[in-house]
Amino acid sequence: MNVFDAIHQRYSYRGEFTNAAVSRSDLRKIVDAGIQAPSGCNAQTTSFVIVDDPRLLGQVAEIVAKPVCHSAKAMIVCVADWRPAYADVSFAVEDCAAAVENLLLAITALGYATVWLDGVLRTEDRARRIAALLGVPSDKTVRVLLPLGVPAEPGTPREKLAFEERAWFNRYGG
Ligand SMILES: Cc1cc2nc3c(=O)[nH]c(=O)nc-3n(C[C@H](O)[C@H](O)[C@H](O)COP(=O)(O)O)c2cc1C
Repeated sequence: MNVFDAIHQRYSYRGEFTNAAVSRSDLRKIVDAGIQAPSGCNAQTTSFVIVDDPRLLGQVAEIVAKPVCHSAKAMIVCVADWRPAYADVSFAVEDCAAAVENLLLAITALGYATVWLDGVLRTEDRARRIAALLGVPSDKTVRVLLPLGVPAEPGTPREKLAFEERAWFNRYGG
């Protein structure tokens, strides 16, 4: 799929997934897209735990407690390393966001669906509990989780503001 088609077809999916598996080769392709993302000073501070073991999937789903996780066939857990990349500045948040967007586009291009789960990980100690379950070292943070699979009831991309409302040539506001 063309990159512009993937951008326009992507949407956050929070419904059920079918029983169709997500192959390891697709998971590798998707995560490789994240690995290729830019990062501040090329510090590559985001790493990925790919969960496809059904027992672990169930345990993570129980922690996240969101319906979309219960039928997910795989999850990609994005882990941020806070080490500074430039002087004492960490670009971990930006690095992770760039990687996640690449993952979302790759997931869409391969015919799967997902949703960027971040806010929900920051409550009820969920990020730390998932980190403990997956063996993530305590100096790193589980920052984003993407549950994925083939959508049982595919949705449609959400409306975005018109170009003219958000972008201008040469001068803010046009
Ligand atoms: C930083 C960030 C955090 C997000 N956290 C959550 C979340 O915790 N739970 C959730 O259901 N969606 C989450 N989302 C998805 C947004 O709600 C979604 O992207 C937005 O509503 C626009 O819809 P769209 O993705 O279909 O275009 C998050 C998105 C971003 C970029």
